[in-house]
Amino acid sequence: MKTLIKGGTIVLEHRVMTGDLFIEDEKITRVIDYADQPAEDTACTDKEFADRVIDAAGKIVLPGGIDAHTHFNLHVAVVTSDDFTTGTTAAAFGGNTMIIDHMGFGPKGCNLHHQANVYHGYADGKCLVDYGFHGVVQQVDDEVIEEMGAMVEDGHPSFKIYLTYDYKAEDKDALRVLERLGTLGGMTTVHCENDAIIDYLKKKFVSEGKLTPHYHALSRPEICENEAVMRMIALAHTAQNAPLYIVHVSSAQSASMIKQARQNGDRVYGETCPQYLFLDESCYDLPDGEGLKYIMSPPLRSRKNQELLWDYIKDGTLKVIATDHCTFNFHGDKQRGKTDFTQCPNGGPGVETRIPLVFSAGVSEGRITLNEFANVISTNPAKLFGVYPEKGVIRCGSDADILIMDPDREVTITKDILHENVDYTPYEGFKVKGWPIMTMVRGHVVVENGELKQDPGFGRFIKRHQADYDC
Ligand code: URP
Ligand code: ZN
Ligand code: ZN
Repeated sequence: MKTLIKGGTIVLEHRVMTGDLFIEDEKITRVIDYADQPAEDTACTDKEFADRVIDAAGKIVLPGGIDAHTHFNLHVAVVTSDDFTTGTTAAAFGGNTMIIDHMGFGPKGCNLHHQANVYHGYADGKCLVDYGFHGVVQQVDDEVIEEMGAMVEDGHPSFKIYLTYDYKAEDKDALRVLERLGTLGGMTTVHCENDAIIDYLKKKFVSEGKLTPHYHALSRPEICENEAVMRMIALAHTAQNAPLYIVHVSSAQSASMIKQARQNGDRVYGETCPQYLFLDESCYDLPDGEGLKYIMSPPLRSRKNQELLWDYIKDGTLKVIATDHCTFNFHGDKQRGKTDFTQCPNGGPGVETRIPLVFSAGVSEGRITLNEFANVISTNPAKLFGVYPEKGVIRCGSDADILIMDPDREVTITKDILHENVDYTPYEGFKVKGWPIMTMVRGHVVVENGELKQDPGFGRFIKRHQADYDC
């Protein structure tokens, strides 16, 4: 199959050009810049070359989105409403060509491969876009540290450790993981919140009968995140300057510490998510218990953080915008928190709205360039999580993972137009300018003009390799 994407604004790794993109089977084979070869000169070869010509005039052609932080089919006290089929369907409609899901915790004492096998069982044969998994560290002992080598060989070069929740890592454990993954060319990703602060404040609020969603945010204040981020930076620095990726940064103060560490030569990479750029803590006080929709950790912050986080995206401190997509129905499991916020499952939707929201506020409103947009939604996660340059870039020889955006299409986001399997979107009523109109994975169209063109099982498990830390 030969496809030609004609006349689009193509976002290459370091520049933007107008021209043609040639795809043969699953790979990009040629890129023609009209500045070098005018469009008229290519017209006759087009027909000979292509089985299909896609007119991309006036459209933006980007490397497909990579959402490096999802939780599909997550089993906590309850199970998330999106599984790997519904989740990756929504991902494809939202312009993503790959997701990297975080494995959840398994039975107490299980080894790393146990959860890898469980997750292959959840995802294989079910996905609409390509996928991988971050390993999860439940306990740290000699066996687990040793086993990381085989996990990396199996295509899982990144792991998440948690500084809170049931299986929280102690500092000495984090040091061992950081050092080992640094040696293996992998990546330690960390959920940074101080467990003792959360425990203390939650108990205090519960004893005082302060049980509304408002107190969820107050039980996990910014300082609780900031302390944990600073601690992890110190630990990674100590562990031979091991690479460190901090997930879901919500606080501008945390981002400033990451910036400082990077200026000191530490290999620290920040990730933020749309919820921290577009929503704020006032959501917890919405009437009719709607605050439950926004119970997630870290919680939404004060509005003043938002523009500062954009500044840290612009200056390259926050390398990735992912989603932490983790869905529970408002009229279902979220109601567990109706009379006590501590009982509400944590998390919210986002995999389908990330790209249009970030494009609209980022590119359409002039906060970031098209290249910076491509970096945070695709190229940087591809580099840091070991799929670059096969993915995350428009380049000859790379997978033809392509997102076409209509930069002029204005859409009002409502739950009804989305494909996420959950009964609300936190972005209800948000108006965006710029919408994904085609998602192509390895040269195959997955979504076109609002229609799904592939079946579950089309998406492939991607064996990831060592990270490219240079971003
Ligand atoms: O509230 C959240 N973020 N739930 C998902 C699990 C996590 O901590 O990433
Ligand atoms: Zn987390
Ligand atoms: Zn998460």
